[in-house]
Parts: sequence; structure tokens; C-alpha cells
Amino acid sequence: MFSSRYKWNLESNQLALLIDEKRRVGARILDLTESNPTRAGFDYPTKEILSALAQSAAMLYEPTPRGLIVAREAVAGYYAERGFSVDPEHIHLTASTSEAYSYLFKLLADQHQSVLVPQPSYPLFEFLAALEGVDLRHYELNYVHPLGWRIDFDSVERAITSDARAIIVVSPNNPTGSFIKLREVERLNAICVERGLALIVDEVFGDYGFDADVSRAASLVSNDAALTFVMSGLSKILALPQMKLGWIVTSGPAGLRDEAIERLDLIADTFLSVGAPVQHAAPAWLRLRRPLQDQILNRARGNLNWLEQKAEGSPLRLLRVEGGWYATLELPRHLSEEDWALTLLERDDALAHPGYFFDFSREAFLILSLLPRAEIFREAASRIFARIERV
Ligand SMILES: Cc1ncc(COP(=O)(O)O)c(C=O)c1O
Repeated sequence: MFSSRYKWNLESNQLALLIDEKRRVGARILDLTESNPTRAGFDYPTKEILSALAQSAAMLYEPTPRGLIVAREAVAGYYAERGFSVDPEHIHLTASTSEAYSYLFKLLADQHQSVLVPQPSYPLFEFLAALEGVDLRHYELNYVHPLGWRIDFDSVERAITSDARAIIVVSPNNPTGSFIKLREVERLNAICVERGLALIVDEVFGDYGFDADVSRAASLVSNDAALTFVMSGLSKILALPQMKLGWIVTSGPAGLRDEAIERLDLIADTFLSVGAPVQHAAPAWLRLRRPLQDQILNRARGNLNWLEQKAEGSPLRLLRVEGGWYATLELPRHLSEEDWALTLLERDDALAHPGYFFDFSREAFLILSLLPRAEIFREAASRIFARIERV
């Protein structure tokens, strides 16, 4: 009856069962998996955000595959403020970055062709790819303390088979918080050109770098060497995932780029999924981003600094974070990371994601969201440190 793309079993794992049980008995869980910004106590300019939706221009239906020019110009303006020149005609609006991935998989890959994804990384890849009938192959990010994470290029070469179509980069990556470096872009470009692959670059956390670093690639929207698709959207830039606006910026050698844009036009025209009120609101919304981003950056940086001090001299190691909304703790390996996560929830009401949730290739890691309010973050993390120092 059903397609074989759906290959998941819906049984809850032990951690999910324990969360349900804790909630049933009314426990107050200190949740360090919380990464929904709209629940993290930030001060949104609610009136301005909502009034931007009530524009009379939104009463006209103007179906355009790339999206309304007012919104695309606003997106180009956002990049111009960051020092990048983007032609609005090279932008396609989508309802989200997730939808942008699905458009790009439709554009680039046949059934069971493959795309390369970083490991560790974002858990949704498995679903986004499988629902398009695309296979995933992993390349590794390698951690060297205290330098941070780097692409393991041997693993990239190993993962490229004859059916490979694209290499995905997430910068900064979720959850490692590592930005792609200019040197790495050069090597990826060379590989993509030689092997006929596209680069797909997810920059949703791109505005959340903690320190300046000249070795970093701030954005690949002007990457002309290989066919490149950069994705981002308001779910992180404005911390408004519920408004559903993302985009793809296409760049690369002109002929290839223009053909890709034309093909994306047809894919986007088939769905026309971004609502008119959201597109008309985009220019006003994007102007509101700085104070919101400052609040988020201050919260994340404050939590990270506190964690750094706490980790000094403890058996837990805080891995280097360059940006984004997460921190990674490496735990002693006498318990598995699942057992650590279960013990912490069971005994201390502290919830954090075990590394396997983000496909870490070895044990034992815990991932903490940096978004919770300082008092919740510190209390939960203190319980984690106390438990781990005791066990
Ligand atoms: C790396 C990364 N890309 C994309 C998304 C999803 O963004 P959107 O809400 O635009 O689909 C997330 C959400 O957490 C993410 O972490």
C-alpha cells in the first residue's frame, strides 16, 4: 500500500519513554535539548512582526516561481549588508530550508543516487534524503583539540562513488558549531569541478559566529568555481521558524548556474509554496534582525562562557565551538552516552541529547542547546557536572 521511502519504525526509544514518564508524574525537566527560539524567552518585537503581515499588496495573487521581487531584493539586501553581492534573479524563495533541500535533491539526483553529508551533523538529513529517494553517504568532520573541527578530505574522497551528485556543507555546522574554512572551500571546489558535483551549503546559523576569524568562509553565495547552492532562511536569521521563509542562492560558472536556475524555476513553479503575506513582510522583518540576533548571541555566548569555566579541571571536555546554538561535551566513556543521558534524566531531571542523535561516529558525547535562559542552563549543566563527577 505504501511507498518504500518510508522506512522508519515509530517506536519510542528509551529516552523518549522516560521523558513521557517524567512528564506524566509532573517532574520539572530542565531541558537542554530546547532549541525552539520562540520558547526561550527572547523579547520579540511582536507588534512590528505581525503588522508587517497585514499589507494590502498581499491580497493580489502573483504566482512567480522565484518568489516576489520585493522579498528577493530584501534577501539580496541582507547579503549586501554582510558584504556579498547577490543578484535577486539568482534567488529562489522556499517555505523553509528543509523545502530548499527537497528542491535541490529533485534538481540534482535520480532515485538512489547519493549526496555526501557531514558526520556529525543535523538529524533531519536522513528523512529529507529518503523522502526524495536519495541515498546519503557520510564524510567525516575530524576534531582536534583545541583547534576544532576540520573536514577529513580522505573520507570525502572515499564517500564519492560514481552515483554521487552533491556535497553538502553546513556552516556553521549543527551541532559542532564549526565554520567551513577558506582553505577547505578551495579543496571542495576542486573536488566538485573534477568530479562533476554540486556544492550545497546550509548557512542557516551563519549570523551566529562567536568570534571573528579570517580563516573562515563567511558565506559561499559568491562561490563561482563550482555550481553552488547556498540555503538560509528566517527560522534562524530572525528566530522565526513558524513564519516559513527560506531561500536558495545559486552561483557557479555562468552557463551551469543559469541552467540550474531555469530548472529550479520549474520545480518551484510546481509548488509555489511561500505565502504572499510572508513575502511582503520579508523586507520589514529582515530590518528587525540585529536586536534579535544580539539577544540570541549574548545568551549563547554567556552560556558557553559559563560552560567553559565549569569544564576546566573537570572530567568533561567542552569541544571548541565557533558559532551556532549548540555546545558539545565529551564524557568519560565508562558509561555509554545513552546511559549517561538516561541517568541524568532519571536522577537529575536534566535532559540533553546524546551524540548519536547527531550521528557522532563514536562515544561519548552530550549536546547542549545554548538557547535556554542562563538560570535553567546553569542549573541543568551543574547537575550534569555533579552527576558525572560522582559516577
Ligand atoms: C542546519 C540546519 N539546517 C536547516 C534547519 C531547518 O531550517 P528550516 O526551519 O528553515 O527548515 C535546521 C533546523 O534546526 C538546521 O539546524
